[in-house]
Amino acid sequence: MDDPRIIVTRRWPAPVEEQLTRRFGHVRLNSDDVPLGPDGLRAALEQADVVLPTVSDRLGAELFDGELRARFVGNFGVGYNHIDIEAAAKAGIVVTNTPGVLTDTTADTTMTLLLMVARRAGEGEREVRAGRWTGWRPTHMMGADVTGKTLGILGMGRIGAAVARRGHFGFGMPVVFYDPAGVEPDHGIPGARRVDTVEEVLALADFVSLHMPGGGGNAHLINAAALARMKPTAFLINSARGDVVDSAALIEALRSGTIAGAGLDVYEDEPEIHPELLELDNAVLLPHLGSATLETRTAMGLLVLDNLQAFLEGREPPCRVA
Ligand code: DGY
Repeated sequence: MDDPRIIVTRRWPAPVEEQLTRRFGHVRLNSDDVPLGPDGLRAALEQADVVLPTVSDRLGAELFDGELRARFVGNFGVGYNHIDIEAAAKAGIVVTNTPGVLTDTTADTTMTLLLMVARRAGEGEREVRAGRWTGWRPTHMMGADVTGKTLGILGMGRIGAAVARRGHFGFGMPVVFYDPAGVEPDHGIPGARRVDTVEEVLALADFVSLHMPGGGGNAHLINAAALARMKPTAFLINSARGDVVDSAALIEALRSGTIAGAGLDVYEDEPEIHPELLELDNAVLLPHLGSATLETRTAMGLLVLDNLQAFLEGREPPCRVA
């Protein structure tokens, strides 16, 4: 395709925006970084050959209906449940994502949540900053140990396995996991135990970490019944997608002591956060920071460009999902 028109829906790290405009010419960046919204996204699909969205853009089936100019949607991010890929494919649009380059960074964020919630780090920081700390005492803000506790992984893909490695090798955590796909029994982590059901992981783990895609059959996988299977001393960590957890049920479980705490990086209606969640000290809340380092966001952007380059040259894009 010669001289394609390209629309980028949000700001990207400067070195990637610079490469994009240098290598591909006809590019409209979003320098104000204001989300385009459904009308803006539809207009982008009508006006450009290439649209480069991200997780904060919802590209539902209705957006792919009718006459469109777009032939390529290159998502900046690995998760693509915000894009109806079947509708895109039906409209003749190739869709790509950015797997692999954000694995370690997202696993690091997951461990941050896990450590913060176990050791009450958010609560402690709030106390210090509010001038409420009155000094050391034996019973002050006691948390839970991490070392040696059982780490439960739901979804043993790249990120799940990277979290399991960190837990096992860094903190001596025995690993128990469930994955619907046929993965190796121990996944290269000595002693890791693969079980046949989500319920077994929920019942056995001291920390349950979610690593499955959002949408489809995973929506509200963690509901009131699932939370009730967890130990009252256990913690839930979600760095995957917000809709995997029923937030009303989670709030109730955190309030009533059904579980001990939760570390969340993602939410059902981002960027809206259930106001009751904000009141709970046993919840650690991050603003979807999973892959947010300069190095990783740059690598993600460069991978979008590799996918785009392949598409424009008539080759199979390396990370095609539709
Ligand atoms: C992704 O890539 O899907 C992440 O959620 C963005 O950090």
